[in-house]
Amino acid sequence: MSMPSHQTKKPLLSAGERSARRGSANLSRGTESGAGTTQVVTSSSRMRLAVQAAKTSGKTIGFVPTMGALHRGHLSLVEASLSQCDQTVVSIFVNPTQFGPDEDVGRYPRTLDRDLRLLEELCCPWVFAPSASEMYGAQFDTSIDVGPVAEPFEGAMRPTHFQGVATVVLKLFQIVPANHAYFGQKDYQQSLVVKQLARDLSVPIDIHVQKIVREEDGLACSSRNAFLSPAERVRARSLWQSLQLAEQMVAAGEKSADKIIGQMREQLARCENVEVEYIAFLEEGTVCEVTTVDRRTVVVIAARFGQTRLIDNHIIG
Ligand code: PAJ
Repeated sequence: MSMPSHQTKKPLLSAGERSARRGSANLSRGTESGAGTTQVVTSSSRMRLAVQAAKTSGKTIGFVPTMGALHRGHLSLVEASLSQCDQTVVSIFVNPTQFGPDEDVGRYPRTLDRDLRLLEELCCPWVFAPSASEMYGAQFDTSIDVGPVAEPFEGAMRPTHFQGVATVVLKLFQIVPANHAYFGQKDYQQSLVVKQLARDLSVPIDIHVQKIVREEDGLACSSRNAFLSPAERVRARSLWQSLQLAEQMVAAGEKSADKIIGQMREQLARCENVEVEYIAFLEEGTVCEVTTVDRRTVVVIAARFGQTRLIDNHIIG
């Protein structure tokens, strides 16, 4: 199996840092399988017990929920947690309930061995990797609806998506009762859904939202980028280029969201086979659209490149 480029170039941690992390990783052994420093747990009850035991011994726990196929964006969340918390749990679970009927959950990339090697390289102590039946028993019927924040944009394009996300995230928070949880700005609306959920349902966890990690040409790292053909991959740069255009127009004094969106759409239309689903300017921390850019504003965009749907955003103003 080929190793990711950043791993072949140089280890992410120095030998000294790795050894220091190993020292602190021995919070509770003998859970399940696991090589080296990373323990892989598949049972919810064992995972919860391990986290509770670590908390009882005074450790702070950071949690990074993922669907695997890890890239530098995911790893930035893991690194934030490792640097801010005594112990870190990364979950890897391709959650079927957040995929719509037209979205093929079976096609989602699954690279567990490679993911575990990357996490081991970072000296991440715990990985929670449950099966679908561990997460969803035959009688599973609950669904969490967080209300209006989940309705527009991604919620409108993918009607059952955020119910699936909110339900699995709440369930993961029960299994991994961490002090801190790390999410990416890349999925801006998802981060708002998770904050709403934690606030409304009194989940005692601090939600941290980390900045977007991009490829060299600006494309936001995403597990879905693997689906792009070489030609689509080139065209996908247009997302970041259009977000940069918005930033430049605002820096030059333009305040009208409509005018900027018009220019962004024109630029995207010059690129073949890009189907824009939405572009919107939102008040930071909300899904409320603004017409005038006179404070920090989140520009969100979604577009299709062939069969692959990508989302991105950028904070301007
Ligand atoms: P997944 O797509 O695997 O993403 C896991 C986390 O990584 C999310 O918080 C996402 O916002 C963050 N992330 C993805 N790309 C990023 C990038 N380029 N830079 C920084 N962070 C990035 O999001 C999910 O999984 C699922 O919906 C989940 C929350 C795990 C629930 O199933």
